[in-house]
Amino acid sequence: MKVSVVGTGYVGLTTGASLAYLGHQVTCIDLDPKKIEMLRAGRSPIFEPFLEDLLAAASANLTFTTEYADGVPNADVVFVAVQTPSLPDGNPDLRFLRSAAESVGQHVAGDYTVVVNKSTVPIGSGNWVDAILRDAYEERHGASADGRLGVASNPEFLREGSAIGDTLYPDRIVIGSDDDRSLEVLTRLYRTVLDQSFTAPAFLPRPDDLGAVPLVSTDLASAELIKYAANAFLALKISYINEIGYLAGKVGADITKVARGTGLDSRIGSRFLQPGVGWGGSCFGKDTAALISTAAEYNYDMPIVRAAREVNERQRGAVVDRLLDELRIIKGRRIGVLGLAFKPNTDDLRDAPAIDIARTLVARGARPKLHDPVAAERFRREQPDLAEYLCDSAEDVFDGVDAIILVTEWSHYLELDWAKLMGMMRTPIVLDGRYALDRARLEKSGYRYLSMTN
Ligand code: UDX
Repeated sequence: MKVSVVGTGYVGLTTGASLAYLGHQVTCIDLDPKKIEMLRAGRSPIFEPFLEDLLAAASANLTFTTEYADGVPNADVVFVAVQTPSLPDGNPDLRFLRSAAESVGQHVAGDYTVVVNKSTVPIGSGNWVDAILRDAYEERHGASADGRLGVASNPEFLREGSAIGDTLYPDRIVIGSDDDRSLEVLTRLYRTVLDQSFTAPAFLPRPDDLGAVPLVSTDLASAELIKYAANAFLALKISYINEIGYLAGKVGADITKVARGTGLDSRIGSRFLQPGVGWGGSCFGKDTAALISTAAEYNYDMPIVRAAREVNERQRGAVVDRLLDELRIIKGRRIGVLGLAFKPNTDDLRDAPAIDIARTLVARGARPKLHDPVAAERFRREQPDLAEYLCDSAEDVFDGVDAIILVTEWSHYLELDWAKLMGMMRTPIVLDGRYALDRARLEKSGYRYLSMTN
């Protein structure tokens, strides 16, 4: 099938490269000429494992352009995957989506095109996009868009750092439309993922236990709500274990064992029960805020989702408080922070806990020493006022510090020679914000090991 993807961020680029790999003819459109130039040269503008391998494997089916006219007119399916950043009131900023929908509406010219919203949008936006598309189409073509255009939602569940695997081997595919023809087109588009009949790429083999992928085919509003319900649930699972973690610290229980013993109940599940400094990233914060704000439009409060956000915010403050308990005085101290990206295997710094932690340290008079193996350059650009605290290597961070906080559990940090590096520290205190380090080994080397809870 012929596919166009508008927006080459994490979602758009992964979707485009994956569909091209599966054999569809894909045109990726982005208004940023620099990004398009890089992509044409086979380089990815974002750090995502296997993405460049996938771009190379799919290159025969993949073109990149800044022009809607190059990809949209004959497309069977157009994915819109532009950014929808949060406004101060928690609602997403839909300006980019509006202008993308207008441009798509002006350029579609095939017999029938399904326009799929991949951007995370408030529930009900499908109808709004539909209206914009139709107006733009009718203005340009002077004819009704009836029977020419379908609008669908196909929510995205990919995680940064494992985006390619999540797209080729998903837990499920959700499609929603009020138009049966659109649902039928999308089911065809995803056929080889649904029955897993494509040849798995050598660099990312198919998981052994993966069978057919379930399809949830539903109406537009249900598909839109599924995205929010899933992300909010994952966010609250993490906040829940962090809330239990607080109590575990008080009663002298080991939260990692509590999480394991709880999660092995198959009704609960052990994933997303990893305690620590909490969640960051572009989705959980934004989606929980948008869910609360949509509910408010219907005069409904969402206390559970609100609490998940409050607990998550508290975790960030708790990191510095934990250190304060130990050091007594934080002013004038040098504190190492390992990891800036919101999680390992990405250079994404959106809503990253490390940024709040570094700012709190500075505000309380400490001098942080910051490092990230991949996101440092991006950090320098995006947080210029904190750039002076960046170190060139993880080893540099240890030099002369009073304590080290592990904020992002990059394997690079887990593999450091901690016993040797201890000699460079002023006091060998480590706060493991992710329960990722080997406590027994560190203690044996002479470290004072602190976790978030004990
Ligand atoms: C998330 C959803 O998982 C994905 O389905 C959706 O499409 C986009 O949002 P992402 O933000 O890429 O994906 O990362 P994810 O792996 O979910 O991690 C989010 C945050 O939660 C990270 O900061 C991570 O460190 C934290 N986390 C995750 C925990 O603190 N504990 C856990 O058990 C899992």
